[in-house]
This record gives sequence, C-alpha cells and structure tokens, in this order.
Amino acid sequence: MNAPLTDLEIVPRHMGFEFPADTPKYWFAGEPWATHLLNSLSIAFPPGEAAFVNSVRRVKDRVTDPKLQAEMRAFTTQEMHHSKEHEAFNDWLRSLGLPVDSILQEITENITKNRKTMEERVDLAFTAALEHFTAILAELLLGDPEIQASMHENVRHLWMWHAIEEIEHKAVAFDVFHEVGGEYRTRALVMAIVTVAFIFNTSRFHFRMLRADGELTNWKSAARYYWKFWGPRGYFTRLIPSYLEYYRRDFHPWQRDDRPLIQRFLGEIEARAKRIGPSSKAARASA
Ligand SMILES: [Fe+2]
Ligand SMILES: [Fe+2]
Repeated sequence: MNAPLTDLEIVPRHMGFEFPADTPKYWFAGEPWATHLLNSLSIAFPPGEAAFVNSVRRVKDRVTDPKLQAEMRAFTTQEMHHSKEHEAFNDWLRSLGLPVDSILQEITENITKNRKTMEERVDLAFTAALEHFTAILAELLLGDPEIQASMHENVRHLWMWHAIEEIEHKAVAFDVFHEVGGEYRTRALVMAIVTVAFIFNTSRFHFRMLRADGELTNWKSAARYYWKFWGPRGYFTRLIPSYLEYYRRDFHPWQRDDRPLIQRFLGEIEARAKRIGPSSKAARASA
C-alpha cells in the first residue's frame, strides 16, 4: 500500500446554499430519470455521512498519528457540512412533494439496524468502500464538462463543492481502516457487499421517486438515462476500471492524484464560500 500524501490539505468550507423557487424541478438536463437518480443520492447523504463520521469517531482514540488525527477532524467537519447543505437541498425536494421522508426513514432504520452493531473494522470498511464510490463519482463530475453543463446553475455548485471535498478526504477512512489493523480480505469482501446493496437500494429509491412523481413510465427519459449513464460510453460504465482498482491488494486512493481536477474549480467554489474552516494542515500545526 502506498504512503498517504504528505502535502494533502483537507479544507472544510461553509457554503450556505439556497435553492430559489425558479430552480427547475428537472434540474439535470431537463430529464426526470437522471434528475431523480441524483435526488435519491442527495437524500441518502445526510444519514450516510453521519454513519461515516460515526465509524471514524469510534476509533479516534486508537489513532496516534497527528497527521491522520488532523485529517479525521477535517473529514468529520466536511461531512457534517455536506449533510447540512444536502438537507437544505432535500427541503427543496420536499417542497416539490417528493417522498423524501419515507426514503430517509428507511435509510436511517437500515443504518441503525446494521452499522451500529458492526465490529469497528467492518464499520470502517463500509465507510472506506462508500468513500471510494463518492471519490470516483466526484472525479467523474469534476472531469466531465457535459455533466457540469447538464446541471442547472442553482444546483451545480452544491455538487461541485461536494465533489471537491470528497476528493480531498477520499483516503481518510481508508487510512484509518488500515491504521486500526483492517485487512485486505475484509476491505474487498465489504466492497462486494456494498456494491450490491448500494446499486439495489439506490435503484429502489430512484424508482420510488419516479413513481411518486408520475415519471416511472416516461420511457423516453428512461431510455436516455440508461444510454447516458449505463451505455457503452456511459458515465457509470466509464467508472468501472476505477471502481475495480479498489480490489487490488496494493490499492491506495492517492495512487491516483486527482487534485489538479480540484484546482480547476476551486476559485469558483471558494468565491462562494461564506467561511473557510481550519484545514487539516492548520489543525496539525496547532496540535
Ligand atoms: Fe460528503
Ligand atoms: Fe466523504
């Protein structure tokens, strides 16, 4: 496994997004199917990210490396901000009459039932696996101008900001997992379970949103969605090689240094940030 980056900086940024009434309901390319997939992910973020933070906090006393400790703090602050901003977005989805609460309740019950009873290292392996998903999705979003152009500007900044911070902290849970003795077998097996559960549950929630919105049988939008996302050159199809890298025994998230992708959009995002919190570097210096 490669060593973590020494000059990595994880910077929590306070954003305070608002979603005005003129935000189009189908904010992704005017497409109900594509939009509701991303809406389903947004609903899952607050309870999911709270579980990520919890899995890292559970072992905080067993991590002694000051650099990793500072990264854990910055990771926690970033994820808490993500939840808050996505809650504001989810409030906007509620105002459209979408079934946000029933989905949220189901995810929260699942997490309570499963993750709270997990052994610490398994819990961390779940977080590390899902963080790999968010990192490769972030790389896709930041690297694809067509996806960026498909997002309405009222919503685009939320996803771009989230993507930037997901890349910054993409290795934290992974490093903590190894720091507390996590083994390759657990990491790979949990990734296989996470993949099936993530695709199965996200699809269920996606369909529930579409049904509630009367768009489940919008076959044209469905066909365009499957072609764009799952077709031979589809957004998700293109992610398969980076997804599979996780199964390599010597994998480390920073083997792929995608910080140049962040740099391209950082100015735009930081110009909108209400306040920029202490970074992992600053926390390390004052520790
Ligand atoms: Fe996040
Ligand atoms: Fe994350």
